[in-house]
Amino acid sequence: MNLQDEVNIRRTFAIISHPDAGKTTLTEKLLKLSNQIRTAGTVKGKKTGKFATSDWMEIEKQRGISVTSSVMNFPYEGYQINILDTPGHEDFSEDTYRTLTAVDCVVMIIDATKGIETQTIKLFKVCRMRGIPIFTFFNKLDREGREPFELLEEIEQVLDIGTYPMNWPAGMGKRFLGVFDREQEQFVQYNGEEKETPIPYKDLENAEHQDVVSDPAYQEAAEELELLEEAGDTFSLDAVLAGKQTPVFFGSALAPFGVETFFNTFISMAPAPHLRKSTEGPIPPDKTDFSGFIFKIQANMNPAHRDRIAFLRVCSGKFERGMSVRLARTNKAIKLAQSQQFVASSGNTVEEAYAGDIIGIYDPGIYQIGDTLVTGKDHFEYEELPQFPPELFKKVTAKNVMKTKQFRKGIQQLVQEGAIQLFYRDQTESFILGAVGELQYDVFKYRMKNEYHVDVMLDPIGERVPRWLKQDQVDKSLFDERNMLVRDREGNYLVLFQNDFALRWFQDKHPKIELIDLFEVN
Ligand code: G4P
Repeated sequence: MNLQDEVNIRRTFAIISHPDAGKTTLTEKLLKLSNQIRTAGTVKGKKTGKFATSDWMEIEKQRGISVTSSVMNFPYEGYQINILDTPGHEDFSEDTYRTLTAVDCVVMIIDATKGIETQTIKLFKVCRMRGIPIFTFFNKLDREGREPFELLEEIEQVLDIGTYPMNWPAGMGKRFLGVFDREQEQFVQYNGEEKETPIPYKDLENAEHQDVVSDPAYQEAAEELELLEEAGDTFSLDAVLAGKQTPVFFGSALAPFGVETFFNTFISMAPAPHLRKSTEGPIPPDKTDFSGFIFKIQANMNPAHRDRIAFLRVCSGKFERGMSVRLARTNKAIKLAQSQQFVASSGNTVEEAYAGDIIGIYDPGIYQIGDTLVTGKDHFEYEELPQFPPELFKKVTAKNVMKTKQFRKGIQQLVQEGAIQLFYRDQTESFILGAVGELQYDVFKYRMKNEYHVDVMLDPIGERVPRWLKQDQVDKSLFDERNMLVRDREGNYLVLFQNDFALRWFQDKHPKIELIDLFEVN
């Protein structure tokens, strides 16, 4: 296959959801569909096990969770699929956000009994910021849930994106009868078992299907469907690819019901790797020279060494094991001898990879998050990864003042690597750390001790709402303990508001001061 063919068959995506919406169950079913696993429950036994590929880090073992945004890669129906995991719960971190910079689209799973939940909103905002196409799967239709129209309206209002239901459910919970498949023009019956029975619309008149057609759930859904056809939005693939409309699927990951149809339709619509912005303009994925960028660094896989694995998204050309590349930031040559590509069963060595693929490369401590690796004569770097707004803030000090030098060195390196964000408060001459999730603090503490031999003290200053200031609008007298004025790594001033209420109050009082929300920045 030539380079363009290799690119065309790749689908690289993340599944985003709030914990317990069914991400693991759906992922398992996708792996099963592609014959990667024979039995469900292999991906993550909730209480007993975890991802085979992710129990690298000591801290991970202790907590029994997956710190990493693990990557799965497998063939399916002529395509090459890359699924990037976006960890939730207590392992939610900046890595979760950064993973979204390495995908071409996302699948958003929403529990139909609950509707949109907080974590989904946060991840969605990042997708919107980056114009990533979003496909929605409403899960758990086998349980009594909320009305489909209500769910669609919620998506449109809360997330501000157009919807187009690809299928429409008839009943739910005990009355769940199946879905109208709008694209294939068939009614797919739900029998409570894995086998789905599609009935083409034209055959629904037949006597043998009268039990279906006469069911009140069917009747009701047929009327709703008519309404949708008349008053609903029309489907636009362009709008989907621009992240302005989301195709919506209803189903059950557990049953499973509607999963195969969803996946096949999704894959046919989802974008292959495309142009990526760089300092020298957009780089096409079929450019002959290899290039890629690092979106995540996993440290201390092996506590005996200080090994790190850098996760690299290939953006162009062909990666071959042992090839020589240049680190664009320093222009230094590096030989990529060790590389891993992560699959469902175990991490193994990858010999070649193309745009869209994710590889793990050995990092002797030379990479930073956002680094570009290139071959060929051109000099360019991919766009810098965005800074994501942290929510949890803690004051950090060294327990032993004698260790100040090591303390500063450790913080500086970990911050540079992207493990955590650092802020400085002039007023009290104190360092404040900012993170998206609690786990980042655990990792920070652990690494400061293990790699820099410094015990740190972390004093929480609570959840805060950060807003950046325009540099010509900084008036130090306006801020105090409640609304703290701090500087970020680049020296830009921002305010850590105590809560949303304090933020609104400040805005009302000082309407001329512009407060910048990183989530809203394009
Ligand atoms: P997550 O990765 O998004 O956190 O969710 P996960 O797949 O682990 O699913 C959370 C719970 O929801 C699990 O039940 C799972 O079996 C259930 N679930 C997922 N999809 C469906 C569905 O389509 N219908 C129904 N009724 N339930 C579904 P659990 O009891 O919390 O865990 P487990 O003991 O079954 O693993």
